[in-house]
Amino acid sequence: MTISQFIAKHSGLGKRHAKILLDSGLVFLNHQPITDGNLPLGKFDHLSANGEILQARTARYILLHKPIGILSATTDKNHSTVIDLINEPWANELHLAGRLDRATSGLVILTNDSRFSESLTSPENHVPKTYLVHTDQPIPETVLQQFRDGMSFEKENTRSAPAIVDLLSETSCRLTIYEGLHHQIKRMFLRFGIRVTQLHRESIGIYLLGNIQVGHWRNIDLPSCYCQ
Ligand code: URA
Repeated sequence: MTISQFIAKHSGLGKRHAKILLDSGLVFLNHQPITDGNLPLGKFDHLSANGEILQARTARYILLHKPIGILSATTDKNHSTVIDLINEPWANELHLAGRLDRATSGLVILTNDSRFSESLTSPENHVPKTYLVHTDQPIPETVLQQFRDGMSFEKENTRSAPAIVDLLSETSCRLTIYEGLHHQIKRMFLRFGIRVTQLHRESIGIYLLGNIQVGHWRNIDLPSCYCQ
C-alpha cells in the first residue's frame, strides 16, 4: 500500500485529502517530511500526518533461551509456551523463526517481522544451526562421516547438506546442520540405533545464545546484514 492510499483509508476522507496533507508538508515518514505519496509504506515505518501518528509499529527481534519442557509454540491449552516467558504487552505479536522439540533447550528466535523469520527458515538460505548433542551410547566415526556426507530424508524427499560435526566425548558432539526438518537430529542418530538423550541449540546463523540464562531473553537490534 502506498502512503497516499494509507492516509486516504485511515482518514476516511479519500485520496484528495491525502494529497492536500502531503502537498502542505504535514506528512512525516520516519520523522522526515515527505510529499511523495506514491512511496510504499513498510510494516514498521513510522507515519504521521497533521500531528497525528497513523502508524508506529516496532519491529521486534528476540533471542530466548528455551528451557526443557516449554513448548515452541505461541499458544497451547495444556503447556507453557515460549510466549509465556516474555512478560511484555507485545509478546502476542511474536512468532517463532524455527522451533525446538519440547525436550530440547537453547536458542529460539522470536519476531513480528515475517520477512526476517523467513530469511532464517527458508530452506534455500541454508542457515546453519549448531547443537550440543548427548547420546545414550558411543558415537562411531562412521556415523560422523555419514553426517558429513549428508543424508537422505525420504519423508521430506530431500538430502541434508554436509553437516559439521566435532566429537567432544565418546557420547557427545557439537553438530551444525543447515536444515530444520522435524526432529532432524534425533532422526539422524536413530538411523544408527543411537538415541539422543540431551539436545541444546547454541546458535542460529550469526545469532548466539551466549550468556542468556535459561528462561530469559534479550532484544537484538535490526540485524545489520538484513535490510527490511
Ligand atoms: N533436531 C531435533 O531432533 N530436535 C530439535 O529440537 C531440533 C533439531
